[in-house]
Amino acid sequence: MIIVKSSREIELMKEAGRLVAKVFETVEPFIKPGISTYEINEIAEKVIYDGGGSCPCKGYYDYPAGTCVSVNETLIHGIPSKKIILKEGDIVSLDVVASLKGYCADATRTFGVGILKDSVKQLMKVAKDAMFEGAKVAIPGNRVGDISCTIQEYVESFGYNVARDFTGHGIGKNMHEDPSVPNFGIRGTGPLLKPGMALAIEPMILEGRKETRILGDGWTVKSKDGKLTCHYENTIIITENGNEIITLTEGEKNN
Ligand code: MF3
Ligand code: CO
Repeated sequence: MIIVKSSREIELMKEAGRLVAKVFETVEPFIKPGISTYEINEIAEKVIYDGGGSCPCKGYYDYPAGTCVSVNETLIHGIPSKKIILKEGDIVSLDVVASLKGYCADATRTFGVGILKDSVKQLMKVAKDAMFEGAKVAIPGNRVGDISCTIQEYVESFGYNVARDFTGHGIGKNMHEDPSVPNFGIRGTGPLLKPGMALAIEPMILEGRKETRILGDGWTVKSKDGKLTCHYENTIIITENGNEIITLTEGEKNN
């Protein structure tokens, strides 16, 4: 069942969205060679707790941390670790869910470490642009499949692939609500979008083949072929005449 949010609930989700954005603003200057994914998570969790929020990921099916920090061929759900240390040329995604006053917001940014190859920069840009392409069609009267198909076609037009085993999702009091929002699909199909719906749109893309594998820790999702991956995500609210993206940083809003 898709829960349509009241204007009061939407205001609370926006507050949670601002807290998620603050995490990215705070973490970004620390993304340098030598930092561990454990330290990145520590900084992120502190922002959330200092802001009065909580981390619904922690303890979710026994997930051990507040955020997911995924490097290079790790697509999603990287468990923060003191042993995973960033080096020049890496890319690292930070997936943040914050719950504040009972409502959640969810977003992911992928950061580059130092100087990146042009091919890596392009992969990052396509993941980000795919989210905004999907958001363009996330408007009342369209369907979830319009978002899915738009993202898939955009990503595949660059010769990349979208992951099939993981999807975006509705969000609200819970970090995962109906509907699921796949990054692949068929235009004109799926649930109808209505004002007050809240969606996490999150292209998860692979430079190589679309297949993924889960490590023995039960969480870490990597590309099966070991090639580079990228993830970009925002939470959006469907409005009367379009949508509002509620997890952008101030810098991103001005871009
Ligand atoms: N942000 C992730 C999502 O969109 C949440 C993963 S948290 C975990 O589903 F607990 F599942 F790791
Ligand atoms: Co999500």
